[in-house]
Amino acid sequence: MAKKTTGDERIPTHVAFIMDGNGRWAKLRGLPRYLGHKAACERLSSLLRHCRDLGIKVTSFFAFSTENWSRPKDEVDHLMEYLRVFFEKNIDELKENGTRILVSGEIDRLPEATRDICLRAIEETKANDRFYFNVCLNYGGRDEIVRAARLFADDCVNGKRKPSDLTELTFKDYLFVPGLPDVDLLIRTSGEERLSNYLLYEIAYAEFVFTDTYWPDFDDKALDRCLDEYYKRNRRFGGLGNG
Ligand code: IPE
Ligand code: IPE
Ligand code: MG
Repeated sequence: MAKKTTGDERIPTHVAFIMDGNGRWAKLRGLPRYLGHKAACERLSSLLRHCRDLGIKVTSFFAFSTENWSRPKDEVDHLMEYLRVFFEKNIDELKENGTRILVSGEIDRLPEATRDICLRAIEETKANDRFYFNVCLNYGGRDEIVRAARLFADDCVNGKRKPSDLTELTFKDYLFVPGLPDVDLLIRTSGEERLSNYLLYEIAYAEFVFTDTYWPDFDDKALDRCLDEYYKRNRRFGGLGNG
């Protein structure tokens, strides 16, 4: 089993999670869907601690997609409120343990209270560099790429850049969070095996692990099992790997 292995060189630098299955988790229990999102936010708090204990430097969590606005308003409102509460409860602990909070996605469209707490979290932790916690909120992978292209084009028009400056690396300067390392491991819960428009640029050489567990049940041991699966992979990056 994966253990507390801070300093272990096998530990992936960047693990990205698609936290899926909240609605089905609630339905199984005869609860309204929104209570699945409440349980999901509680799970996120404890899982973050485990990621830190394991020594995972960067984590990304898909909390709300650009496509999720098509859900009933009542569900969206509840989810946004649970996210606000999540930040409220966790900012101090994250600040103290050296975690920098980042948000990928257009936060302007979020309800005011959720947007304000996101901005506060980003501001209050901006000097931290021990861990990076990237919340993908109103996030879409295509949106991120198109936005980056637009920002680069703007810089060309205003003379800061020229088209020949654009490389795979300089393009990253225009993503929501410049400087994030590529994703090493992507974990999606709930049995769905698709990307749903997540981190399309950052995921080019990630290993994928899919698990049937619904997100609110995804505990420390479930993460350990995903890491064990990751350790078995032979990452070749187009070369010959290790045999
Ligand atoms: C993931 O859980 C959370 C969001 C997409 C916001 P779902 O709400 O998609 O749960 P299922 O997939 O319907 O069970
Ligand atoms: C992806 O889950 C988005 C989040 C987990 C926030 P969805 O449940 O929205 O994805 P689809 O609709 O099943 O592809
Ligand atoms: Mg879903």
